[in-house]
Amino acid sequence: MKPSLIIHGGAWNIPDESVEDCRAGIQRALETGWKILSSGGAAIDAVTSAIVILEDDSTFDAGFGSHLNSDGHVQLDAILMDGGTLKAGAVAAVERIHNPIRLARSVLEHSDHVMLVAAGAEKFAEEHGIPLCPPEDLIHERERIAWRRCLSDSHAVEHHLGHESGTVGAVALDEHGHLFAGTSTGGTCCKLPGRVGDSPLIGCGCYADAEAGGVSCTGHGEGIMKIVMAKMATDLLHDQRVLLSHRKKAGPLSLAQAVADACIRKLAHRVHTTGGLILLDRQGRPAAAFNTPRMAYGYVEETGKFRIAP
Ligand code: GLY
Repeated sequence: MKPSLIIHGGAWNIPDESVEDCRAGIQRALETGWKILSSGGAAIDAVTSAIVILEDDSTFDAGFGSHLNSDGHVQLDAILMDGGTLKAGAVAAVERIHNPIRLARSVLEHSDHVMLVAAGAEKFAEEHGIPLCPPEDLIHERERIAWRRCLSDSHAVEHHLGHESGTVGAVALDEHGHLFAGTSTGGTCCKLPGRVGDSPLIGCGCYADAEAGGVSCTGHGEGIMKIVMAKMATDLLHDQRVLLSHRKKAGPLSLAQAVADACIRKLAHRVHTTGGLILLDRQGRPAAAFNTPRMAYGYVEETGKFRIAP
């Protein structure tokens, strides 16, 4: 089977001055994931490694550099899902983990549970060889300044360079036909302590089913949860009718793209909010859609060439 990879660094109003940083981060994450897949490696390793690169890059709202909650803490969420077994591992509201996607993977591989939160997730990390870091290690000065402005003024998206909520994610299909999807986020800025969005919730911020495809979402979590967007996308991938109705309006395009577009239309019309998603169908055909001004994402074309946006 031909391997395939698509990744994202979030859909938001990316200002011109952040475009190059986004492109550079997406490029590095694609290179890392593709090196694994193109040399016969596993989709689970490609997704984990690509997301680690994005978590470590302070351009994106995941891992180091994430938004602070209203108490001034970073609380991180992540999920990794196996499209073959439908097993997922997820963590939420962790404050002392550099790379929550690694912890989500450990939950997937070493527990019978799907999700662990807060102190329980951090205890599991320690027991499984994932070091805890001081919470301050996750805080970027830019975000502390934005948080202070929100406290002293009022919470405003302008304090965050238009970046109110962001997420990173990846979907990979390897040459053995294994399909994995993963998502990681710092959530929305100034969120209430303990708030968990769509990202780590199976079917909302991420879903993978080797019989349909794999999906990672980004955007306003409270809206994405209402329409269970990642599961909606994989369900639609089973249903050719979405393609027929879309073709009438937009001419020929892949089923994968028609599905991605249909999900974003539903997000806008049914819950009146913004976001984006990336997906691979079960044969590895990529698609991305968003209704924000820009989305940071990239995928590998059939020729092996990287396609990067914005
Ligand atoms: N989509 C990220 C969040 O709302 O937490």
